[in-house]
Amino acid sequence: MPDQPSRRGFLKGGLAAGAAIATATTAARAADDPAITEIQDWNRYAGPGVDAEPYGVPSPYEAHVVRRNVPWLTADPISSVNFTPLHELDGIITPNGLCFERHHAGIAEIDPAQHRLMINGMVDTPLVFTMADLMRFPRENHVYFLECAANSGMEWRGAQLNGCQYTHGMVHCVMYTGVKLRHLLEEAGIRAGAAWVMPEGADASAMSRSLPLEKALDDCLVAFKMNGEALRPGQGYPLRLVVPGWEGNLWVKWLRRLEIGDKPWQLREETSKYTDLLANGKARRFTWEMDVKSVITNPSPQAPVIHGRGRLVLAGLAWSGGGRISRVDVSIDGGRNWTTARLDGPSLPKALHRFYHAFDWDGSDLFLQSRAIDENGFVQPTKNALRAVRGENSIYHNNGIQTWHVAKDGVVENVEIS
Ligand code: MTE
Ligand code: CO
Repeated sequence: MPDQPSRRGFLKGGLAAGAAIATATTAARAADDPAITEIQDWNRYAGPGVDAEPYGVPSPYEAHVVRRNVPWLTADPISSVNFTPLHELDGIITPNGLCFERHHAGIAEIDPAQHRLMINGMVDTPLVFTMADLMRFPRENHVYFLECAANSGMEWRGAQLNGCQYTHGMVHCVMYTGVKLRHLLEEAGIRAGAAWVMPEGADASAMSRSLPLEKALDDCLVAFKMNGEALRPGQGYPLRLVVPGWEGNLWVKWLRRLEIGDKPWQLREETSKYTDLLANGKARRFTWEMDVKSVITNPSPQAPVIHGRGRLVLAGLAWSGGGRISRVDVSIDGGRNWTTARLDGPSLPKALHRFYHAFDWDGSDLFLQSRAIDENGFVQPTKNALRAVRGENSIYHNNGIQTWHVAKDGVVENVEIS
């Protein structure tokens, strides 16, 4: 190709490179490219009018951008999980229709007019709120990630699922609108000696957990909107608890009751589930905070490299239940050498962060890794480092470094280099 030498030169030129590649490619194609030489239908005929879709839907060309489940993971789809297609998204906000869902007894379909939130237990005045009552408290907006404690759980003993949608897709990040839980608890009046809150869901699983009062009074929200519109039924319509930075299981959906007590309730979801069995047979429990973590979303097994050698843009996500992400390092050689990636977009505490790294791919095998560091100095560990501390039995809280192998033909596979 005659433009090859100058193209390589341009690649080193930073910003100018993108434009230069586009110009060269376009010039080469223009003469025989029907996308340019032919008038397309959408250019020739008027399209559907403004009332075609009262509630907008994505282009039919985006029909592959969907949540997916892994049927063999669970006995049935009622108590199951589907996964966010992280490799198809960009920025830090997850569109509502693509937020992964985890239900223990399917979706509760609730008429908001019939929904009540009760506060009882160690309070001065037990209270019951309607949705309309909640609208009379001061509202706040916050962007937070929600990650299921079981995210990446299937990868604990080795590489298993081929796609970041499956290995890391039990995470989403939206802007919530809601009322600080503190306002509601203060309205009821917390009695001396109270130290715990039990949120309870209105679904058939009556999902319940023990939440320390300190966290409840800190940054928890009772939310009714996500990304500006009502919560989706799968996300807890009309009301859910938001527990920033902590494991998804605590974020009770279809929230109907908050009981105040002086000790934890030792419920199913904090004893037999959502505890981490160690090698010595003892279990860690109350592992609430989600650890610092990251993943390269592109390229990844479902998003191979199709353009061949030359400029390659890595994109990824990083997050920490402890606050902001301060740095993300990436490696293309399986962790031997590291480069600092470019963080882009808002950097909000306990929210997803977006990172990119562009480099010139020489066409040889790549072993892609990313390693996030949060504002508290916590560094995402290797999987071996995790297993050294936690053994082989764990499912939950796997924040180990992920490796993708990119073969010469651009095909990407989930592999492990520990
Ligand atoms: N709340 C109720 N009432 N029922 C549930 O099954 N699942 C929990 C939590 N809250 C659950 C629930 C779990 S394990 C997770 S990870 C999150 O909700 C998932 O939230 P999402 O479905 O909005 O992604
Ligand atoms: Co979960």
